[in-house]
Amino acid sequence: MPLSIKHLLGLEGVPREDITLILDTADNFHEVLQREIKQVPTLRGKTVVNLFFENSTRTRMSFELAEKRLSAQPLNFSTSTSSVAKGESLRDTMRNIEAMKIDMVVVRHNAAGAPSFLTRCTDAAIINAGDGLHEHPTQALLDMMTIRRKFGRLEGLKVAIVGDILHSRVARSNAWGMKTMGMDVTLCGAPTLLPQHPEVLGVRVTDNMDAALSGANVVMLLRLQLERQGAGLFPSIREYRDRYGLDLDKLNKLPSDIIVMHPGPINRGIELASNVADSGRSVILDQVTNGVAVRMAVLFLLGGGEIE
Ligand code: CP
Repeated sequence: MPLSIKHLLGLEGVPREDITLILDTADNFHEVLQREIKQVPTLRGKTVVNLFFENSTRTRMSFELAEKRLSAQPLNFSTSTSSVAKGESLRDTMRNIEAMKIDMVVVRHNAAGAPSFLTRCTDAAIINAGDGLHEHPTQALLDMMTIRRKFGRLEGLKVAIVGDILHSRVARSNAWGMKTMGMDVTLCGAPTLLPQHPEVLGVRVTDNMDAALSGANVVMLLRLQLERQGAGLFPSIREYRDRYGLDLDKLNKLPSDIIVMHPGPINRGIELASNVADSGRSVILDQVTNGVAVRMAVLFLLGGGEIE
């Protein structure tokens, strides 16, 4: 059964069947990644452009690795070494790259909607690797894969997503995706770091961390995005850490089977204490491992592959 979508622009509106197919396929690729030979020939002859207009470590490297594991040819683009630095537009950049006969495009851009715009400039499949404050769908997919592998299910699990919700495309993609998968999601942050109209996401929102954590199976901390902040959104880093950070004292009051997640990069000592990030309850590096399998699944399925 193929995906119902041609591009992966976000998880808003993506049906449960598509998310389940991506997660099932990612589980298959996770098994491939445990083998001595970690490469399969499924996308041989396909070329995938990694169009990164914003910095990235995890997303960029795991997409490139996923492409290589599928035997596709990655073509890497970065703003500082391209003609974008001379003023070339996004449309012209895309149309010139397309003229070189490419098959898929992975794009990260600081403008919300840039991946959607690119669908009107090329026939290639577009995968959103993070667009402004809008969505980061493959991050949410790898987060759900990590939770499903830990608990064996998603339906009915309670997730608290705590931190800088206002600036987080990860929170938005997870809210859409997790809600679709029947999870109980609470977004929590300082009142100035919550979206103005959270009701559109259809999930619970609170500024009280204890309330958010009550009964949670999963707590996901989000990075305080200091580079996107205006002044005065909270009184001080210390107060923010005390109210919305997770340290060992708070963790020890939670059920022993709760798991701790973070999409990275972590501000250690702000939203997450180092001894929590590195504890046995943390699945942060599992998230990174699963990111390669999820991105292989998305590339494979959008590239026309089907599992039997
Ligand atoms: N989680 C995430 O998107 O990390 P990078 O910015 O390093 O890709």
